[in-house]
Amino acid sequence: MMWKGRFSEQTAELVVKYTESISYDRRLYAYDIAGSIAHARAQVGAGTLSQDEFELIEAGLLSIKESIEAGEFTWSKELEDVHMNIESELTKRIGPVGAKLHAARSRNDQVATDTRLYTREACEVILDELKNLQTALVEKATEYQEVVMPGYTHLQRGQPVSMAHHLLAYVEMLERDAQRLAQAKTRLNISPLGSGALAGSTICLDREQVAHELGFDSVSQNSMDAIADRDYILEVLFDISLIGAHLSRLSEDLILWSSAEFGFVVLADAHTTGSSLMPQKKNPDIAEITRGKTGRLYGNLMAVLTAVKGLPLTYNRDLQEDKEPLFDAVDTIVMALAVNAEQMRGMTVMKERCLIAASDSMLLATDLADYLVREGVAFRDAHEIVGSAVAIAIEQGIELSSLPQTTWAELHPVLDKDLSFIFNLKAALEARDNPGAPAPKQVAIQLARWQTALSE
Ligand code: ARG
Repeated sequence: MMWKGRFSEQTAELVVKYTESISYDRRLYAYDIAGSIAHARAQVGAGTLSQDEFELIEAGLLSIKESIEAGEFTWSKELEDVHMNIESELTKRIGPVGAKLHAARSRNDQVATDTRLYTREACEVILDELKNLQTALVEKATEYQEVVMPGYTHLQRGQPVSMAHHLLAYVEMLERDAQRLAQAKTRLNISPLGSGALAGSTICLDREQVAHELGFDSVSQNSMDAIADRDYILEVLFDISLIGAHLSRLSEDLILWSSAEFGFVVLADAHTTGSSLMPQKKNPDIAEITRGKTGRLYGNLMAVLTAVKGLPLTYNRDLQEDKEPLFDAVDTIVMALAVNAEQMRGMTVMKERCLIAASDSMLLATDLADYLVREGVAFRDAHEIVGSAVAIAIEQGIELSSLPQTTWAELHPVLDKDLSFIFNLKAALEARDNPGAPAPKQVAIQLARWQTALSE
């Protein structure tokens, strides 16, 4: 780059390579062009461009857009970034009028505008993908609504739940993710254009008009904040990181469930890979890669969070480091959500295996304690009594439900009876009949709620 005016020497080649952003910020071209057209139109109002000049600029910018989309545009590292590449090409195409475009504007408010527009659209794409995965989870939950399985804490069998209840837990998580992104999108939809390099401009354009044309809800209220602010990027990077956390937890469940030890699900051949060595292997690679990619999502958040730390107001070139992590996070999460939805749709639940695992009568130890409570025993005492029964069953190597009545009688007189009504899995699940609990009736209410919500 030869900066005209005060520079008499070319930028060193190594510096060009080190400082360019065109290799990645070129993907902002459409936002950059939309922003430039809105800015040029506002210049007509301010009297710094004639209507004819505006039309020339607009046509020039649109022709550049066409060339870019046809793959016929040559990007130049010497021109550093997307903003200067497009501006310089404009002047090449339409002559000296092109050089009028950048009045009352700086690359600082330009890059802030472009990035906000990009992030706004990225939020929309991620929101669509979140909904798609939620829909896939609800479909699968509906398909296997009847399947009972153990619910775990500490990865130890806890109490009975249903596959639908477990899958719907993820739908809830993804719903919070969607709410967060929708809020972030509303918060970021503010136009920084007109903030100039940092202190606005002596040429006062109609900022509201520009904002309106670009679909922003309002204009920023402090030019210095508008130039320095990258909060919206950080917010979205956090929101994406948390989606990553949720996907990695789902992945871990699927990895466990598809193992021989659990055998609760079978993933489709199309969504698994073999081993180059072990012929019997069928590996849950989507789940593992998803779990692994969560690390880079966190890394992207940390990179930008660290880049803004301690930066003095307003623009500092450090801020150029915001874009690659943002693009990478968006690309990664969009793909992860799409592939996880596809994997979920292709998953088969092994009902029998789930039922066998859920038929461990230990899962109903709490139910037995609850029964004692209903018969007037204090819960702590009930807990101890049932705990002793569990110890005896383990020692004798038998099911809790198979303890002889004489043993129950010794533990507590109330238990001196046929307890098979307690050790009835179906009844035990049905008894968990409070909103949010896994009784089939409650799960059906939740499924209906989600089916309606997601079809809107
Ligand atoms: N490529 C720069 C970025 O991404 C654009 C803004 C450059 N502004 C400047 N004053 N050098 O941040």
